[in-house]
Amino acid sequence: MAFRNLLTEDRGAVRVVTLNRPEKLNALNRATLAELHLAFDQAAADDAVRVIVLTGAGDKAFVAGADISELAEQTPVQARELSRFGQQLMSKIETLGKPVIGRINGYCLGGGMELAMACHLRIASEKARFGQPEVNLGLIPGFGGTQRLLRLAGRTATLGLCLTGLQIDAAHAHRLGIVNSVVDHDELEGEVMKLAETLAGLAPQALRGVIDAVVVGGESALPVGLEFETQAFAVAFATEDMREGTSAFLARRKPEFRGR
Ligand code: COA
Repeated sequence: MAFRNLLTEDRGAVRVVTLNRPEKLNALNRATLAELHLAFDQAAADDAVRVIVLTGAGDKAFVAGADISELAEQTPVQARELSRFGQQLMSKIETLGKPVIGRINGYCLGGGMELAMACHLRIASEKARFGQPEVNLGLIPGFGGTQRLLRLAGRTATLGLCLTGLQIDAAHAHRLGIVNSVVDHDELEGEVMKLAETLAGLAPQALRGVIDAVVVGGESALPVGLEFETQAFAVAFATEDMREGTSAFLARRKPEFRGR
């Protein structure tokens, strides 16, 4: 189906989802959140999609936050529902079982940073800027930002960013562990597609096992997380791709993973 606020495009097994409200710096209004829910449901259900790239239209922003014109009108009851709707989207992305790469092409603020942090990998343009500026509006992050930033970058950085609302540049975000790498702006698209295509060529069940073990297992106490890993490890042995990967290595040939 056609979206109003998103563009989707398949490049082989890579689905590129682009937030498309550049005139509002791709701010997340409720309609866009609903479309993202649908887009990720569709990507999860489609076996031909192995990797998702998420990015923002235009040259300025990934996403400049939740839509402030909508926030300004919310009652507390509506705000609670909005927070849950946003959090559910971020959790959906994080537990999708397929790698999601954030292509951070510019401003990555507030709800945009929360969306980026739900991705499994993030590559930033050198022009990208990050921040949780909600305090400047008398608000706090509501789409999981306080929790995911804490887990990605620790308490010092999280309190530093969320209490001050200050923006940081991409190199700083990289030092804090918020992004995987920073590249020249002109090379962003190529670098992200190279990574996406590499992941699309790997065994999907192995990738799912890694994501589940880290994202779900990693939220438990160590013995529970280790047991989670053991079970995911064992499941890999039920796949044809695992037999293919090991036998191809032993035969000194390139493996051909079929997603089975
Ligand atoms: N919600 C709604 N609209 C937003 C928005 C947001 N989060 N961020 C930007 N926009 C809109 C602006 O209102 C403006 O719309 P207009 O042309 O109809 O007036 C348009 O996008 C361009 O933004 P503008 O502020 O003119 O661009 P800039 O280059 O001067 O500044 C930012 C860029 C990102 C620094 C600035 O837009 C900003 O601070 N945005 C809000 C960031 C924020 O607080 N996010 C957290 C929300 S909880």
